[in-house]
Amino acid sequence: MISTKIKTNKEKRRKGKRIITAALPYINNVPHLGHIVGSHLPADIFSRYCRSQGYETLFIGGTDENGSTSEIAAFELNIPLEEFSNRLFKEHKKIYDWLDISYDNFSRTSNKIHHETVKEFFKKIYEKGFIKKGKIKVFYSPKENMFLPDRYVKGECPKCGYKDANGDQCEKCTSLLDPLQLKNPVSSLSGGKLEIKEAEHLFLSLDKLSNNLKKWIESQSLWRDQVKGIAKGWIKEGLKPRCITRDLKHGVKVPLKGFEEKVLYVWFDAPIGYVSSTKEIRKDWEKFWKDKNSEIYNFLGKDNIPFHTIFWPGMIIARGDFNLPKNVVGLQYLNFEGKKFSKSKKVGIFCEKLPEIGLDSDMWRHYLTQIIPETSDSEFKWNDFQNRINSELIGNYSNYVNRVLNFVHSKFYDIIERPKKEDLKEEDLKLIEKITEKKKKIEGLLERAELRKAYSEILDLSSEGNKYINDTQPWVVLKENPSRAKNIFYTAIILLKALTILIAPYLPKTSKRVWNQISLKGSPLSSGIWEEIGKDLGEKHKIRKPEILFEKLTNEQIKKYREVSSQGTELKDFFKD
Ligand code: 2FM
Ligand code: ZN
Repeated sequence: MISTKIKTNKEKRRKGKRIITAALPYINNVPHLGHIVGSHLPADIFSRYCRSQGYETLFIGGTDENGSTSEIAAFELNIPLEEFSNRLFKEHKKIYDWLDISYDNFSRTSNKIHHETVKEFFKKIYEKGFIKKGKIKVFYSPKENMFLPDRYVKGECPKCGYKDANGDQCEKCTSLLDPLQLKNPVSSLSGGKLEIKEAEHLFLSLDKLSNNLKKWIESQSLWRDQVKGIAKGWIKEGLKPRCITRDLKHGVKVPLKGFEEKVLYVWFDAPIGYVSSTKEIRKDWEKFWKDKNSEIYNFLGKDNIPFHTIFWPGMIIARGDFNLPKNVVGLQYLNFEGKKFSKSKKVGIFCEKLPEIGLDSDMWRHYLTQIIPETSDSEFKWNDFQNRINSELIGNYSNYVNRVLNFVHSKFYDIIERPKKEDLKEEDLKLIEKITEKKKKIEGLLERAELRKAYSEILDLSSEGNKYINDTQPWVVLKENPSRAKNIFYTAIILLKALTILIAPYLPKTSKRVWNQISLKGSPLSSGIWEEIGKDLGEKHKIRKPEILFEKLTNEQIKKYREVSSQGTELKDFFKD
């Protein structure tokens, strides 16, 4: 058997560095499937692909713990913020681990290293002259005897009329707001009426950054239309200085005389979390953020697009020594069978319930990949879930794995041998050619983070494999010409190996199981393994005894899962003992 020749570390490094980030979730609650498909899963698939291509990859994430969102949630449950955040951080981490989201670091913006990094960032931007003092009117609540920033204020969105808009952003139309713009504003703590007072705050001079941002946005070739559209809309409307300080207790203290009692706006500190999370695990973190051969890819939900195309890049341009992102992959929303996810209305699938259901996490990943809201809002449907698992994951991919390995196991005592060139038939050569063709196409799609299309090309290649077996009829050939039958399976296993590498970023567990059944060395997820797509398995190769990968889903199962997964755990119940 010829062993797989994998490139040395030095050879691999030539590909450069890539930082992939998934938006740091607030920890005022536990994620549902919408959060998973809206950033963590696509970022994970892309990161795994980059590793497999041989890029020196860091997949960075963490929880966004400052600002008012978790403060309000903890206040409502009457639990100290630290205890609240520690518990929910654990729950978030558990869910991402269960779904095989391969973060290289999943950090917290409450960590000391983050606070220090943010202060350094602030000072640098301040020194460069992009932070200015100014007076603004802010809400004051007599009932709570405090100033009320952002999410402490609720009211009607002035742009779309949504009644329950937050003070800093309308969730419905994604408009960034100033709480003073809301109609009928009330305190979100007590529902009480508010007064307006004047106070001194600090502002990021987005107006001065507008020209540079505009040029940069227009020159982007990878961004999807919706992302570019939102960013351009912002520029067109005219960028104004944006207030970056708040009268809150928790958060990063402002490192400027006279402002020590205030904290920085959560959207000033959160994106710096990508940097501090990198810093936490790498001494050479600066290379990833500043080197020419390092690329940054941000994955985030629709409402985060303005922050990642205007606000955060503005901060980067202002400080001047960090790279701007190569792609801002802004995703849309996921609905559940025609409705919005809602724990209280028991609409949706709540991630803390996934392990209890008992399905393989790759079954979820297979389906969720296909409803990633890449270009428009998408929808989870249980019957679609069942169909796509039974017909595609099992009926197509898993069927191909099994029929190829089972045949080799039962008819050839687990052994395949490389055919002589002249013994290869036109159909064999065509199949090998198809692999090269598809590899190129899939790479092109993955580079643009078109993960759904790439996945459907992979499944299509698997169908080609099934078609090859159907057309060549090895079970008939075996009777008259066993060596031809053996050659068919050598070709079929080249495709199986290619498919396993291609599918690995999507189905990491399954691909390892198949890799193991084929008895290949290393892992289908190792750095640089992409090069092995289309390569053969040496002169003589012995596979392992194949095993069934998945069982088909019945209607009864689906009925039960629907029931269990919609009963999300109430927030207070996470703090029971
Ligand atoms: O919308 C959210 O959940 C925010 N916490 C996302 C922050 S992304 C980032 F910049 F950290
Ligand atoms: Zn709105």
